[in-house]
Amino acid sequence: MARDPNIEMTPIEDDSNFDEFLRPRRFEEFVGQEAIKDNLRVMVQSAKMRNAPLDHILFSGPPGLGKTSMAQILAEEMGVNIHITSGPALEKKGDLAGILTSLEKGEILFIDECHRLSPVVEENLYPAMEDFYFDIVIGEGPHARNMKLSLPPFTLVGATTRSGLLTAPMRDRFGYVARLDYYGAEDLTSVLQRSARILNIGLSERGAFEIARRSRGTPRIANRLLHRVRDYAVVGKHATIDDELADYALERLEVDSAGFDYLDRLYLDALVVKFGGGPTGLDTLASSIGEAKHTIEEVIEPYLLQQGFIQRTPRGRVASASAFRHLGVPINSGNQSSIF
Ligand SMILES: Nc1ncnc2c1ncn2[C@@H]1O[C@H](COP(=O)(O)OP(=O)(O)OP(=O)(O)O)[C@@H](O)[C@H]1O
Ligand SMILES: [Mg+2]
Repeated sequence: MARDPNIEMTPIEDDSNFDEFLRPRRFEEFVGQEAIKDNLRVMVQSAKMRNAPLDHILFSGPPGLGKTSMAQILAEEMGVNIHITSGPALEKKGDLAGILTSLEKGEILFIDECHRLSPVVEENLYPAMEDFYFDIVIGEGPHARNMKLSLPPFTLVGATTRSGLLTAPMRDRFGYVARLDYYGAEDLTSVLQRSARILNIGLSERGAFEIARRSRGTPRIANRLLHRVRDYAVVGKHATIDDELADYALERLEVDSAGFDYLDRLYLDALVVKFGGGPTGLDTLASSIGEAKHTIEEVIEPYLLQQGFIQRTPRGRVASASAFRHLGVPINSGNQSSIF
């Protein structure tokens, strides 16, 4: 471990808002997801050349992969304002009317968690997206009249962690759907090196890789772990975070060799040990580990699925042989039939 008692890393006083601080602002700062970035670059360039707003775009994928960042980059690259709201915040038709009528030509409306829009808001969003108008009712009772309020052409950028819950008519109204996938360790190494530069943290390439491969494929987690490992470096007076220090700190932070954290292991432990590898229903698992079903479905399971540790089957969740191996639990004849 590189250790020099005379050199102290400059601690950044407050890292409570580091997500915002570390957010990439332009395409070239956004690491990875090359195919998506290429398509978006072309869309932006074409829109600018035609002097037209961008087509509506949907970002889907697990938390922390860069959906909000990408929406903000699009605004920056187009040189337009971005208005930010979310599915649950738009409760009534009036909420939607308020935000749509505040938009100016070419601006971006970003709706986070757009799978959680209420049906009435969603219905009223369709004509706004398609033909840029909004239906309003003037007056009451027999004198009530329907009027079409025209809107300036704008761009809707939606983000969702659950694209499967989005209605088909909604999904069809986006001109481009970008599915963000988990990042490989090389890309996360680059994310960490960029963050370390910005935050003035000494980080060797092997140190970055060690944190990267244990970050669940997620830039937000990589940055969070970097902060926690940095604490160990500051306290231990290490000038640079190398792989040995990263490994030491991550052990203490209970991030295991596969990058699974406490919740992942709680889940795997229940499925493998308590329920013999499954199949086990989501409700049973949720009550067994005391977590909400949507946390399990949106946060815990996608990465375990991608890594091949579990499968979702019609009869419930099933653990794989690698899940048994990872926990050091032998596969016995009783549960062997269900193991994939
Ligand atoms: N491709 C990337 N390159 C560099 N940093 C990234 C990238 N993607 C994400 N990040 C970092 O991770 C943080 C979280 O990303 P972001 O908020 O965009 O994720 P999200 O997909 O919107 O998550 P959520 O579903 O929770 O809203 C960002 O602030 C940024 O620091
Ligand atoms: Mg977001």
